[in-house]
Amino acid sequence: EELELGGHDHFMHKEIHEQPESVERMLTGRLDDRFGTAKLAGLNLEPRDLRRFERVKVLGCGSAYYVGQLGASMIEDLARIPADAEPASEFRYRNPIIEPSTLYVVVSQSGETADTLFAVREVQRKGGTVVGLVNAVGSSIAREVDGGIYLHAGPEVAVASTKALTHMSIGFALLALALGRVHDLSFADGQRIIAGLRALPAQIAEILAGEEALAAAAEELATAPSLFFVGRVRGYPVAREGAQKFKEITYRHAEAYPTSELKHGPLALISPELPSVAIIPEDDLVERNITAAQEIRARGGAVVAITHPGVELGDAATSRIEVPRNEVELDPILLTIPTQLLGYHAAVALGEDVDRPRNLAKSVTVE
Ligand code: AGP
Repeated sequence: EELELGGHDHFMHKEIHEQPESVERMLTGRLDDRFGTAKLAGLNLEPRDLRRFERVKVLGCGSAYYVGQLGASMIEDLARIPADAEPASEFRYRNPIIEPSTLYVVVSQSGETADTLFAVREVQRKGGTVVGLVNAVGSSIAREVDGGIYLHAGPEVAVASTKALTHMSIGFALLALALGRVHDLSFADGQRIIAGLRALPAQIAEILAGEEALAAAAEELATAPSLFFVGRVRGYPVAREGAQKFKEITYRHAEAYPTSELKHGPLALISPELPSVAIIPEDDLVERNITAAQEIRARGGAVVAITHPGVELGDAATSRIEVPRNEVELDPILLTIPTQLLGYHAAVALGEDVDRPRNLAKSVTVE
């Protein structure tokens, strides 16, 4: 095991640090500069087949579902076709209406999650087309879907997923680009997204280089019995995944809210004992997000802001973590990376078994 850890204390840490290289590998051969699109032969869908879909439904479980929510927003942003995500574990039990004009997309690291596999079968039984974003080559889901995109994240040992989730979100960006280019996305915008994708490995490395500051912030958060993760629109799935990671390995209560929902109830809980991690990218919602963070501060709650360089937070944050800017549609991929290290370092500070959290299995093959 020591040999496989390659100098890291835990597999989770190793996998977080593998990302710059694994993302580079995933993108190799998949970016088509000539047409400003993504090359996705494994989808088994020609451009004219892709064109016929009027809606996208994303299905996955746990963190894969949260990434799916982000993926659906990338598809709406780039392809301008309605897309949404649903836990596969709910979908399979509710007699869903399957439409021939909808593209169903399942997302799974292991390719063996029972609820996701049954969702695939339910879609196919009722005549729908389902493609997969899967990491494990030759897994059950990879074999049963009609086509797909392999994530090429390499093996992931830690129960708490990190690099596979990053690869899922990039898989969605590739799919959204391909769908966008057969709908309304211009060649120039396609090239803009390609350039953004190419910048990701170096930008992830830049975030990882700031690990010390993240560890310090995580140690602070680890002392709280409960915390919030808040984000708005594209930042909301980032908050959901951040809270999930924190819960899984620290056993602390962490809850995600859309920032805009705070005033509709959860603000009542804010006190000096309940810190928040706030996702505040530099986008058209930045001012609203800063105001919400100020409301948390006014009630004595600490705010760890994950933000972009140049965003003026003033007294809205007690600590600040910066990630480099990319394209607005791809920014959530980078905003998620610090949350991996926050969860990791909080769990280490608490002395928890980071790679083997209690009550959880790496892949949930039971129903
Ligand atoms: C991630 O940290 C979790 N352990 C869990 O939510 C996981 O993402 C989920 O069970 C789905 O697994 P899959 O990607 O292998 O289908």
